[in-house]
Amino acid sequence: MSKTTQVADSQQVPSQQMQTARKRRWQTLTRQRVTSSSVTSLLGSRDLVRRYRKGSVEIPVLRGVDLDVEEGEFVSIVGQSGSGKSTLLHLLGTLDQPDGGEIYFEGNRIDNLSPRGRDVLRNRHFGMVFQFYHLLPELSACENVLLPSMIREGVWGYWRRTSEYCRRAEELLELVGLGHRLKHRPKELSGGEMQRVAIARALVAGPRVLLADEPTGNLDRRTGTEIMEILRTLNEQQRLTIVMVTHDLAIAQQAHRTVQLVEGSVVSA
Ligand SMILES: Nc1ncnc2c1ncn2[C@@H]1O[C@H](COP(=O)(O)OP(=O)(O)OP(=O)(O)O)[C@@H](O)[C@H]1O
Ligand SMILES: [Mg+2]
Repeated sequence: MSKTTQVADSQQVPSQQMQTARKRRWQTLTRQRVTSSSVTSLLGSRDLVRRYRKGSVEIPVLRGVDLDVEEGEFVSIVGQSGSGKSTLLHLLGTLDQPDGGEIYFEGNRIDNLSPRGRDVLRNRHFGMVFQFYHLLPELSACENVLLPSMIREGVWGYWRRTSEYCRRAEELLELVGLGHRLKHRPKELSGGEMQRVAIARALVAGPRVLLADEPTGNLDRRTGTEIMEILRTLNEQQRLTIVMVTHDLAIAQQAHRTVQLVEGSVVSA
């Protein structure tokens, strides 16, 4: 069986009990602040504006981005260096807040959530993958995948379910073809293997959306193709919605649709 077939076959959602508890916590945190809209896509932005200030100089980065990502879609975002691709992805993933405009998830406005509400939303629904993996060097592959569960559940919650979480981390590493590298630390892994660990970590909470910023940007063509195969399989067989930033047009074309950013605006979608 190929590595990517394993991804599809053995991916498991978190237990019903875990899902219910997390849903309740998310509802409590966001009840006061969620605003419904006519946005029907899974993840969308309206007239999104982001500017940075450097001393007295204001740098406009996003100048009114409208974007809709449907459930189950695989969308790539391309554009020149500095066009605002990472900025847009960070805003969609609630890692940053806009200066204007709105962001919606499941039809609810999310850009105005409290910091805690954003954290809960992100931990529950968004998986993130970055160009340079962002793994903790002192932890093994398995421990890196477990880290979001430890942070989310706290020490007590985590220890009560250690074996369940460890089993899930091992399954996810097997899914991405790294079942034989569970105890390896990042410095003992290749770039492609580190990105596989990062993908497994991003999947640990069973997210609705995977946001990937240049996931193949640090890899050679062959390894990049393997990573794309994993992402495509997750999208096609798990219906995982994916938004991926890339410089590489050949990689971008493997998505369902490509969005181009030019000077902070979407020029094609
Ligand atoms: N924290 C910041 N403070 C000031 N300017 C910033 C900050 N973050 C980003 N910028 C500026 O915003 C612009 C867009 O940055 P961004 O990282 O989104 O571009 P990008 O399209 O992802 O580029 P690349 O392809 O090189 O990763 C750049 O001109 C950058 O210098
Ligand atoms: Mg970038």
